[in-house]
Amino acid sequence: MRIGIIGAGNIGGNIARRLALAGHEVTISFARDQAKLAALAAETGATVGDPSRAATAEVVVLSVPWGVIDQALAAAGPLAGKVVVDTTNQFGPGGAIDLGHTAARHNADRLPGARYTKCFNTLTAGFQPVDLGGIDQCAVMEAPRRPGAVYGEEYRAADAAAVVAAVRAGRPIPPTPRY
Ligand SMILES: NC(=O)c1ccc[n+]([C@@H]2O[C@H](COP(=O)([O-])OP(=O)(O)OC[C@H]3O[C@@H](n4cnc5c(N)ncnc54)[C@H](OP(=O)(O)O)[C@@H]3O)[C@@H](O)[C@H]2O)c1
Repeated sequence: MRIGIIGAGNIGGNIARRLALAGHEVTISFARDQAKLAALAAETGATVGDPSRAATAEVVVLSVPWGVIDQALAAAGPLAGKVVVDTTNQFGPGGAIDLGHTAARHNADRLPGARYTKCFNTLTAGFQPVDLGGIDQCAVMEAPRRPGAVYGEEYRAADAAAVVAAVRAGRPIPPTPRY
């Protein structure tokens, strides 16, 4: 699938990495420092383009700081009909901004006609997926939390791998990690 990323920093950059690894055709765009985009492209096999090129993809990921969303969308051009995955959060210099409605509603209204969805915004940068084996083996990731599920807990990769190993071996899962 063709994926266009507008804002390839912590979150957009990691989405680009993962989707490129999965074999998707990824275009990364929108940076003050074009050298960083070029380095990410060299690392991942993604193509560097401008936001209007990213906007020609089937799926467009919007992952820029809140204050530059209008600038990014203006550079992208119309996104009607596109699946738009919005990772953004409404933070300004004074912290979270009270919009009077959800940030998702706010951004969906800036994207007329787009097939808008908001994802990844509650994950921290550097997240890694773990494969639990399928929909009948994934009780460990579902509510309620504990004793046999880690729903809502935060994990570093090695600790997550230990949980997966325990699940696969049929052992009790390790205790909640403390960082
Ligand atoms: N970090 C997190 O843990 C996290 C988690 C979930 C969601 N989010 C949200 O996802 C969005 C992206 O977060 P992020 O942490 O990935 O941000 P980030 O690392 O700062 O990435 C932002 C990207 O936008 C580019 N950009 C282009 N013009 C810019 C401008 N005028 N000012 C600032 N950046 C500009 C940056 O490139 P240049 O620096 O080269 O300009 C960078 O590649 C934000 O809305 C954030 O709230 C963040």
